[in-house]
Amino acid sequence: MSAPDPTRPVANQDITSILVEDRAFAPPADFAVRAHLADPAAVRALRERATADPVDFWCEVGRQDLRWTKPFTVGLDWSDAPHARWFADGELNLADNCLDRHCQTWRRHKAALIWEGEPIGDGGPEIRTLTYGQLLEQVQKFAAVLQSLGVAAGDRVCLYLPLIPEAAVAMLACARIGAVHSVVFGGFSAEALRDRTNDAGAKVIVTADGGYRRGSLLRLKDVVDQALVQHGGAPSVEHVVVVRRAGNEIAWAPGRDHWWHERMAAAPAGLAPVPVPAEHPLFILYTSGTTGKPKGILHTTGGYAAHVTRTARWVFDLRDEDLFWCTADVGWVTGHSYVVYGPLSNGATVLMYEGAPAFPAKDRFWDIVQRHRVTVFYTAPTALRTFMAWGEAPIVAHDLSSLRLLGTVGEPINPAAWVWYHEVIGGGRCPIVDTWWQTETGGILIAPLPGVQTCVPGTATVPLPGIVADVVDNAGHPLPADVGGLLVVRHPWPGMARTVWGDRERYKQTYFSRVPGIYFTGDGARRDRHGNFWILGRVDDVLNVAGHRIGTMEVESALVSHPDVAEAAVVGRPDPVTGQAIVAFVTPRAGVVTGPPLGEALRGHVTKEIGGLARPAEIRFALGLPKTRSGKIMRRLLRELATQGTVTGDTTTLEDFGVLEKLRVTDEE
Ligand code: WT7
Repeated sequence: MSAPDPTRPVANQDITSILVEDRAFAPPADFAVRAHLADPAAVRALRERATADPVDFWCEVGRQDLRWTKPFTVGLDWSDAPHARWFADGELNLADNCLDRHCQTWRRHKAALIWEGEPIGDGGPEIRTLTYGQLLEQVQKFAAVLQSLGVAAGDRVCLYLPLIPEAAVAMLACARIGAVHSVVFGGFSAEALRDRTNDAGAKVIVTADGGYRRGSLLRLKDVVDQALVQHGGAPSVEHVVVVRRAGNEIAWAPGRDHWWHERMAAAPAGLAPVPVPAEHPLFILYTSGTTGKPKGILHTTGGYAAHVTRTARWVFDLRDEDLFWCTADVGWVTGHSYVVYGPLSNGATVLMYEGAPAFPAKDRFWDIVQRHRVTVFYTAPTALRTFMAWGEAPIVAHDLSSLRLLGTVGEPINPAAWVWYHEVIGGGRCPIVDTWWQTETGGILIAPLPGVQTCVPGTATVPLPGIVADVVDNAGHPLPADVGGLLVVRHPWPGMARTVWGDRERYKQTYFSRVPGIYFTGDGARRDRHGNFWILGRVDDVLNVAGHRIGTMEVESALVSHPDVAEAAVVGRPDPVTGQAIVAFVTPRAGVVTGPPLGEALRGHVTKEIGGLARPAEIRFALGLPKTRSGKIMRRLLRELATQGTVTGDTTTLEDFGVLEKLRVTDEE
């Protein structure tokens, strides 16, 4: 038997929790008076009802929020557990719900999408506005284009596009004819694109000649060409549709390749939505996971639509007069659920920005908020920590008074970053919704309802009505308050993944075997005495110091609460005495001088904030941390660096390879 690997966490559920946060922010009165959910007593009653009968609750949501061509009579069918079926005997079309039903009202002439491109020309950035009526026309035509290329209900279409309106048009066009989209983020390599295309067996790829990111051109069509020829290519692909975005020169395969604008010009108008059964597949999305072969997470139509429609309205408090900006790319689930389907199903106006936050300068986001008068803004903690590192100058130069609600997703938000977001971006005026969810959950599961709930920095608060989340030990027993354990969801919910595409067994193994029969999220969490859920980080990243299991989140939060620190990631390295010793990788704020004195100060700071147990053995300063393209810190790589001094594992999902190079020669204490 080989010795246990001390760099790997021990598989037990107790996670020692040491972070204490006592700041709390009640909803501001002027926000609460006009919120969708504003009456605490009514919300309490709603929660009780939803907990008593989640299926009945979600049936009501499905009936109220969606238009069905054939109403459903069955709520949940769990007979094929863990593969759920919701509303299975109903029929609907999601494009109809996102477009046609609004076009039968005054909203036909309301803006659905306001898009801004990254490059700034003499006349400013390019801005395109599509009303609901115009978006519907485009979607009808592109649905007809797909049909003319032989795409029928159930066929897969791969979308490899920049963040341009055509991405939303293509998604909705697939939904309109029952085709299944698989969006592959435009930053992924030819290899990643080929693997995903082959796994899904896509018939058509929709791409662009190029796109813009950080001031440079991404040659997307070249990547598609490579994916289709090298290493066996992608034999299922019959056609490639190319949007002309950047005007760069591209290779052309006659018969296979088609210009978007030419096919659109020739397409008939008015294609009717094709009603599909509620359990008809809507999309496959490959998880950006930090380890292992990507999984094609499958979502279906009716349950997903109900979940994202209701959560978009309740959590973001969407109103007709809002301009909602979710900064995610459509390559991630956030872009599916809260750029496209959730907001559009509610008839909201969505802002879409093609590019990077630092182009041409570090104030681009705030310039956009000011010029377009964005009211609800939703972004990731990793972006916020970057903005913190850049300092306040790019922000205070802009009028952000249009903002009324802020949100975050993707990682635990350290309380220090939360408070910074609240004060510097929100002007102390805007509630912050910290939304916990996953590609697999389809939509938000844990988040505050901003009109009624007190927000506490660092916690996504409590599960939404109809979501039965819990913190349990390995046997599935609930743990008492303030004991860290496994975050699970006990009852099926309508937006949950249905399976892993082509691998039912893997779905069951990954999500329903750690705690038999119950959905395990992969995250560690604890519940405090008020019932708020604190995410402690991925269970696989948990540290084990002298027999105590410590979540990465708490040590990182303690580090980020120091005024000189913008971002931190901690990992364990083997230690003969304590089992694991904590190594912290720290990115300083702008202008901070690093070196041993600061390292010593930070160690002392962690000891003071959360205790000697969490005191890092080693602090390394770095100007950037290795992240996935969706912004998650790749602690696995840092663990290898801290343990072996070099990285040998898979780095294909890494956003910026330069970061690793720099970390190897980092300014070590
Ligand atoms: C994982 C899911 C959901 C869209 C973006 C990420 C972490 C997500 C939070 C949050 C703490 C969070 C979890 C989760 N996570 N939101 N508000 N607080 N952690 O989707 O790539 O599927 O990642 O992101 O670890 O399991 P994803």
